[in-house]
Amino acid sequence: MPVEAVIPKSKCFEKIFIPEKIYGIIGNPIGHSLSPAVHNHGFQTQGLKSVYLKWEVASDSLEDFITAARTLPISGASVTIPHKERIMPLVDRTTDLAAKVGAVNTLYWEDGLLMGHNTDVAGFTAPIRNTGIKPASALVLGAGGASRAVLAGLSELGVGKIAICNRTASKAQFLAAEFNAEFVAWEERADSEYDLVVNTTSLGMQGKFQDMNPWPENANSKIKIAYDIVYNPLKTNFLARAEQNGAQIINGLEMFIFQAVHQFKIWTGTELDPDDLRILLLDLLHK
Ligand code: ATR
Repeated sequence: MPVEAVIPKSKCFEKIFIPEKIYGIIGNPIGHSLSPAVHNHGFQTQGLKSVYLKWEVASDSLEDFITAARTLPISGASVTIPHKERIMPLVDRTTDLAAKVGAVNTLYWEDGLLMGHNTDVAGFTAPIRNTGIKPASALVLGAGGASRAVLAGLSELGVGKIAICNRTASKAQFLAAEFNAEFVAWEERADSEYDLVVNTTSLGMQGKFQDMNPWPENANSKIKIAYDIVYNPLKTNFLARAEQNGAQIINGLEMFIFQAVHQFKIWTGTELDPDDLRILLLDLLHK
């Protein structure tokens, strides 16, 4: 029997998608990452023959991953917790911004070199720029890893007065010195007025911290913009209270969206529509 008789001629065969470039995210754990949805959506809507995968990589396999990235080669990758700092010495070059933050969240190739960059900074600043408000002063709550990208972002925005406070004072003092910011004692965080207050602490995050608010409930100081880098829940206690008190609020999903927009631009040279991504991600988060 002729083969044609067994395999019907079908349009399906014309639609087989054969990726030519491979991207992905490395972290541990990586199960709930929203990045694959964003980047695969981007590749598909832009008609790019690329695919973005999730790679759970243990800390002691990071060097093996870099070897794999060079061998395959992997065209680009997102880097998340716990690898953002440890990957720095493993790439060929870090951008000045990544070096300033002390963390890499994006790998890409440039002139044959594996580059480490940080798009969390641009992700953080874009939603502030979009408010049309140019904050003259800002206070950062928390001094963990995430606060470094926030401090770098505030200095990129040209915020005149940048202050930082943290439950453990020494960590805030250290970052204040490094980023040329003012140290404020945790207990005195609401004593002065700031145009912008950014929460980078775990308070308000889904789980055991969800009911907590890093900003004192009885604080009188007026905030123009309250920004929480957490996106789960979308409206933390901090944001809900600040909104009631008349502040514009920015949630962590915005930072996530814009860091991804910048990654995609680096990899493909094309722009993702942040409004599109917001719809996609809100849909995913509500499922
Ligand atoms: P990330 O890398 O996401 O910033 P992290 O390094 O674990 O996470 O930092 C968590 C931040 O939340 C820290 O600033 C931490 O303060 P300490 O440095 O004092 O630990 C802050 N944080 C966690 N629990 C807190 C609490 N109960 N009250 C105030 N701050 C808290």
